[in-house]
Amino acid sequence: MSILITGGTGFIGWNIAKRLAQKGLRVTLFDVAPPRKYQRLDELGPKARFVRGDITSWPEVLRVIEDNRIEEIYHTGALVSIACEENPQAGYMVNVNGTFNILEASVLLGVKKVTFISSIAAYSLGQTETITNKSPQRPYSMYGVSKVCGELLGEYYHRKYGLDFRGVRFPSIIGPGRGAAGLSSYTSLMIQEPALGRPYEVYTTEDTVCAILYYKDALRCLVQLHEAPPDRIKTRVYCIAGDLPTAEEIAKSVRDRIPNARLTFNPDPEKTRILKSWAQKIDESDAVKEWGWRREYTLEQTIDDFIKEVRMNPELYT
Ligand SMILES: NC(=O)c1ccc[n+]([C@@H]2O[C@H](COP(=O)([O-])OP(=O)(O)OC[C@H]3O[C@@H](n4cnc5c(N)ncnc54)[C@H](O)[C@@H]3O)[C@@H](O)[C@H]2O)c1
Repeated sequence: MSILITGGTGFIGWNIAKRLAQKGLRVTLFDVAPPRKYQRLDELGPKARFVRGDITSWPEVLRVIEDNRIEEIYHTGALVSIACEENPQAGYMVNVNGTFNILEASVLLGVKKVTFISSIAAYSLGQTETITNKSPQRPYSMYGVSKVCGELLGEYYHRKYGLDFRGVRFPSIIGPGRGAAGLSSYTSLMIQEPALGRPYEVYTTEDTVCAILYYKDALRCLVQLHEAPPDRIKTRVYCIAGDLPTAEEIAKSVRDRIPNARLTFNPDPEKTRILKSWAQKIDESDAVKEWGWRREYTLEQTIDDFIKEVRMNPELYT
């Protein structure tokens, strides 16, 4: 099986590639950014390839699919929230036109399945009631708008052309190596930086709550959805829930394990306002019912494992 991972050198894309390679699948990583210093292609087995390219370039997308006889795609390549707000035009081009290119090329070249990652940012600001797969999506940011477009395009390609499109709306995914480009990145860096012995200044208030999911659960979730038998997939794009710690609770859990952790708070009012208005309570029961999704890591296990992973190879994250 030959699988394309767009955004293959990103945080989620690279970890998916490692997971699929361990299962013996042939992976092609497609990204505008080259592998980072901690990403060694030989870890992905002899058949793995990296192709530098841009999902907004129609010829490059056609070529990478054709040249590598791609059968299925994990589409993780995107501009994430802060980058989209800083440059909404680029956000539109990459997240909407790029997704269109992936879907259209899939239909033309016989790719059978595309799995897509959307976000809880696809909902309105200030949506305090529990979010379900049927909740209206009226996003506020270019990132959210572009994610809703991607979901709807994928569902359309499924109806019109029979493409097996599947997707998740993830909360903040935390784990070693996640960068600072997303608005929710503090949930990860509050753990990673103290584990590396470095200080970290949190840009939101102690009482801010953000739904988080450990990356090992997120990877398992994506692969489980991608590999679920077609007759189990009814909803197609699924809300996935997370733990709901306050920033102060994360700080306390980190300090319990790293007593000299240098965590300080210096809230940015605008970032705090947006973070506080994101959806928190998320109903993931469709994913549970249809393909058996279940989280494995509790918050405490997440923090223990995260610190252990960082400390095993600290040089990777410096
Ligand atoms: N990390 C999270 O908390 C989170 C939560 C919800 C959804 N998501 C979604 O998951 C996906 C992966 O996120 P991530 O955290 O790994 O982000 P990331 O920024 O680490 O990875 C995205 C990758 O896409 C690549 N990319 C950007 N523009 C491209 C282009 N034009 N052509 C090809 N590649 C391009 C980047 O170089 C990067 O390597 C994204 O779609 C993101 O919106 C992430």
